[in-house]
Amino acid sequence: MRVLLIGSGGREHALAAGLIRDPQLEELHVAPGNPGIAQIATCHAINTDDNSAVISLAESLSIDLVVIGPEKPLVQGLSDELRAAGFPVFGPSQAAAQIEGSKDFAKQVMRDAGVPTARSFTCHNRDEVEKALDTFGAPYVVKHDGLAAGKGVVVTDDREVALEHALLSPLVVIEEFLDGPEVSLFGISDGKNILAMQPAQDFKRAFDGDLGPNTGGMGAYSPLPWAPDEIVEETLEQVLKPTIAEMAARGTPFVGLLYAGLALTTKGTRVIEFNARFGDPETEVLIPRLKTPLAQLLLKAATRDLKGHAPLEWSEESAVTVVLASEGYPTAPIAGEPIMGIHAIEGSEVFHAGTALDASNVSDGDILKSSGGRVLAITGMGADLTEARNKAYRVISGITLRGSHYRSDIALNASIAEKGN
Ligand code: AMP
Ligand code: GLY
Repeated sequence: MRVLLIGSGGREHALAAGLIRDPQLEELHVAPGNPGIAQIATCHAINTDDNSAVISLAESLSIDLVVIGPEKPLVQGLSDELRAAGFPVFGPSQAAAQIEGSKDFAKQVMRDAGVPTARSFTCHNRDEVEKALDTFGAPYVVKHDGLAAGKGVVVTDDREVALEHALLSPLVVIEEFLDGPEVSLFGISDGKNILAMQPAQDFKRAFDGDLGPNTGGMGAYSPLPWAPDEIVEETLEQVLKPTIAEMAARGTPFVGLLYAGLALTTKGTRVIEFNARFGDPETEVLIPRLKTPLAQLLLKAATRDLKGHAPLEWSEESAVTVVLASEGYPTAPIAGEPIMGIHAIEGSEVFHAGTALDASNVSDGDILKSSGGRVLAITGMGADLTEARNKAYRVISGITLRGSHYRSDIALNASIAEKGN
């Protein structure tokens, strides 16, 4: 099988590492990829915002399956154009990707599918916004309707801040605050059937102790030893299956990865958000644990052939990933700094997220530099979370990147609780 993967982040590096473990994979091409991915696949420096450039590439390589990593090309209709050109695609159509692209659309789908979520109002003007804020009270949760690269959601006790954020967007969703731990649970869907992955937890705040601004994700771990045993089955039945059925009933079947961001509240599980693609950095802990061959699985989803598929198989090992971020991330990340000291040890993997090769350094050959906010995601694997953490932190502590920061408490509480049991 010849696979083309679209994207350039840590998620795509982890997916690439999973795809090449599949014995049926013959060739892996990635566009645009990054220097880490280039060590295990063939990278193509095309503009992936240009749908016709992607189609030309897929045609020239006789690709059997296209896997789309990030949300942007999905929302821009890349899947539709590839399917029209005859390629099996793992990634939803533009219409189905609205489940991530519009918070209001996602709320309508959940309402019609009977999926448990926060009560909400969709507001078009200041009057509606103020009424909604006062109905729910603090803490206020205000979400811009469209894609906002993680900057669209504000959770605050300050009514002025909430109002100001709401007025920045012509369409906002204001909803009740959900407390309780957050869990990310993904399903692989062929439009009709959906297979649940194992749960993971993401650390969204920039600094230790869940302090600082929201980020794309500073680390993750899986499995969750503290989570109720029935969480996967329950989410499959109450969230993933009804959502897939509703999307199909609307004539916009969801083929790809349905990401359910859940809050485990005292009143039960509630959906905080849906995404239309693999989460980052959750993928960096889930894919290393997945034993089911990934290329075959995604091809079956893309060709509407998951009916009767056996449940996914998982390694018993725990995985912890820690993100190394640039100075100033997430507010004003500084890129272009050299990265040194990447040495993976047995049971660890270093995924590149925001790196580039600087070819201007002629004497020593190319040198690796940071090129974005999240630079590397270092995954450790082990018999338990403590061992997995220790490996990830051992590798990250050897890496030099001026001004960089990482959280020191990824999976810490869960590993202490696990030891106590
Ligand atoms: P979203 O983009 O919808 O995932 O929101 C980003 C983050 O904001 C979530 O991961 C939560 O930490 C927080 N958040 C979103 N909605 C709520 C809510 N209703 N109650 C509490 N926190 C929320
Ligand atoms: N880890 C959060 C996300 O991928 O949206």
